[in-house]
Amino acid sequence: MTEKFSFELQATDGAARKGVIHTPRGDIRTPAFMPVGTAATVKAMMPESVAATGADILLGNTYHLMLRPTAERVAALGGLHKFMNWQKPILTDSGGFQVMSLAGLRKLTEEGVTFSSHVDGSKHMLSPERSMEIQKLLGSDIVMCFDECPALPATDKEVARAMELSMRWAVRSKEAFGDRPGHALFGIMQGGVTQELREQSARALTDIGFDGYAIGGLAVGEGQEAMFGVLDYATGFLPEDRPRYLMGVGKPDDIVGAVERGVDMMDCVLPSRSGRTGQAWTRHGQINIKNSRHRDDPRPLDENCGCPACRNYSRAYLHHVFRANEMISGMLLTWHNLHYYQDLMQGMRDAIEAGTFKAYVADFHAKRAEGDI
Ligand code: GUN
Ligand code: ZN
Repeated sequence: MTEKFSFELQATDGAARKGVIHTPRGDIRTPAFMPVGTAATVKAMMPESVAATGADILLGNTYHLMLRPTAERVAALGGLHKFMNWQKPILTDSGGFQVMSLAGLRKLTEEGVTFSSHVDGSKHMLSPERSMEIQKLLGSDIVMCFDECPALPATDKEVARAMELSMRWAVRSKEAFGDRPGHALFGIMQGGVTQELREQSARALTDIGFDGYAIGGLAVGEGQEAMFGVLDYATGFLPEDRPRYLMGVGKPDDIVGAVERGVDMMDCVLPSRSGRTGQAWTRHGQINIKNSRHRDDPRPLDENCGCPACRNYSRAYLHHVFRANEMISGMLLTWHNLHYYQDLMQGMRDAIEAGTFKAYVADFHAKRAEGDI
């Protein structure tokens, strides 16, 4: 076990990269997909099951945990890893993005954001300094800078203002984070879909110097084409020897397209959330298990999937338990979806290593075009 945080780039194929992030809590194989464990749980999954899908790292949320059960309580109980029984690395988002999408009444100033809780309406404050303090109390391995992601639609002026504020907050985040061997601090690039702003943001962040660089402000409604358009140049503004993390992405084809453009890490609620609403993701695309066409189908969701839902249960059973509102429905579909996402990442890592990534991507799209047969 290394005591330091470091990134090892092992292979490239076109812009796609394969590597390993070494941390004191274990290695993270990249490209990596991080399941979302917002409230100290990946919903419907035991932590050992999440690990069994192949996940090396989870994402947790400053915003949710500061409100309930509070960061101070988690710290007093031994930190987030112990609290939720997950001993591998945890990355925590810094809270600003969630305040903007979830909190009630909010007020943004140079100092930070005051807001009322979506849980009970109580008043709270987040600033770069407070976000760093909370992420330290949680015991996060990869800490995110406190930033502002402007809500869409936003004017160019508004996007520029939010980016510039985020860069001033990045300076304060780094200062407040201090020197914590074995823990990493990632900067977050903003700038919407404007190349000049993205370049300015990248330059500001690399001047400060971070252990990794996130691309924020995407997957907020701009559409896949616009997102890929930004990624086409944005990853090139970032240092080669640090991990690049695309925040909040995405659907399987978003993930493949991001890796094609040089992204190393991603997170999204999609596989877990859609599992609870009856959506399964497979190599052949999306399956809606609610659909009555599955009622008498003895086949698994995906014959080639090694997950427990596919090894032990028919589509007919999965359809039945969904319709009957049984808890095992969300459990099995979430497990399958997370397993599928991790299979996809492993397939991409292997293909990049072998120099066959282009063929892998072509096959990925071809299988989806065939549809569910
Ligand atoms: N999650 C998805 N997008 C963002 C972003 O721009 N900033 C932060 N902090 N989290 C995100
Ligand atoms: Zn499966």
